[in-house]
Amino acid sequence: MFLYNRHRRLRKNESIRSMIRENHLSPNDFILPIFMAEGEGVKEEIAAMPGIYRQSLDNTVKEVKEIWDLGIKSVNIYCKVSDNLKDNTGKEAWNPNGLMQNTIKAIKDAVPEMIVMPDVALDPYSIYGHDGIIKNGEVINDETVDALVKMTLSHAEAGADFVAPSDMMDGRIGAMRAALEENGFHNVGIMTYAAKYASSFYGPFRTALDSAPVDSQEIPKDKKTYQMDYHNSQEALREAIADVEEGADILMVKPGMAYLDIVKLVKDNLQVPVSVYQVSGEYAMIKAAVEKGWLDNDKVILESLTCFKRAGADLISTYFAKEAARLLNDQ
Ligand code: PBG
Repeated sequence: MFLYNRHRRLRKNESIRSMIRENHLSPNDFILPIFMAEGEGVKEEIAAMPGIYRQSLDNTVKEVKEIWDLGIKSVNIYCKVSDNLKDNTGKEAWNPNGLMQNTIKAIKDAVPEMIVMPDVALDPYSIYGHDGIIKNGEVINDETVDALVKMTLSHAEAGADFVAPSDMMDGRIGAMRAALEENGFHNVGIMTYAAKYASSFYGPFRTALDSAPVDSQEIPKDKKTYQMDYHNSQEALREAIADVEEGADILMVKPGMAYLDIVKLVKDNLQVPVSVYQVSGEYAMIKAAVEKGWLDNDKVILESLTCFKRAGADLISTYFAKEAARLLNDQ
């Protein structure tokens, strides 16, 4: 008996394996999410996210210079907002001198080529911890979109390269694109969280920003009327198509590791760059297993990130960006 197809021939050694490799990871692929805090000299580690900090502007600027030197070219920004600035309208979100706007300016001043992608959503600014304005116990769509448009313009004015709406309201991409065009921000792009699922993997993030829906009978207890149902995939395609038609430049799928089929579905069906978000709970799971000595930190990081590329992601938002860039640079 002859075996004509010996697949192991192509796996014989590292030279052959690397020669025929289909997907490659590079620091160019990464977006680092950063958490901002008011004040000076602040650097607070986030519960369930060892090695990830909420930082004041001075420390963030230092970090941004450091990651640029590692080859990371993009950041997502999230702000921890003090309780006294929160209300139902989220109006602190478009304060021209707010923490977000000041952060955008400071990063662009310090590292002008860094691609700055601030998060557009009301939850850190909402007394209810929802991504929209609440009326009669519901998160209302159209007034929320008006608020998101104001937020978008304030980010553009501060110098954002892309805005990254993570709210999942209907029609927000078209409204934002129109407002950006009308105000002369033709080159400010939109990286939309097109397929964002209502996920329990966001837990540590909500602790980091103190942004979880508050416990009250008057408001929805979760985000399921706007974020997607994880039982579905066709819906992701409808969301993605709508966002592209409304003028989105980059489509984001979120969460990541349990949603690789959605990454592939979006990538195979739409001719736009696709990004994926390896969210806080995914980071927490890996770090927890590593701390117990159950997983190999470096190998699991590189494997999980490479698998995003294999599924079709062009960009990856990941809390591992710094660690992974160091590993890749040392290879
Ligand atoms: C808020 C937002 C969330 C995340 C990014 N933007 C949380 C949420 O929707 O409740 C989660 C990111 C993460 O878990 O790392 N609009």
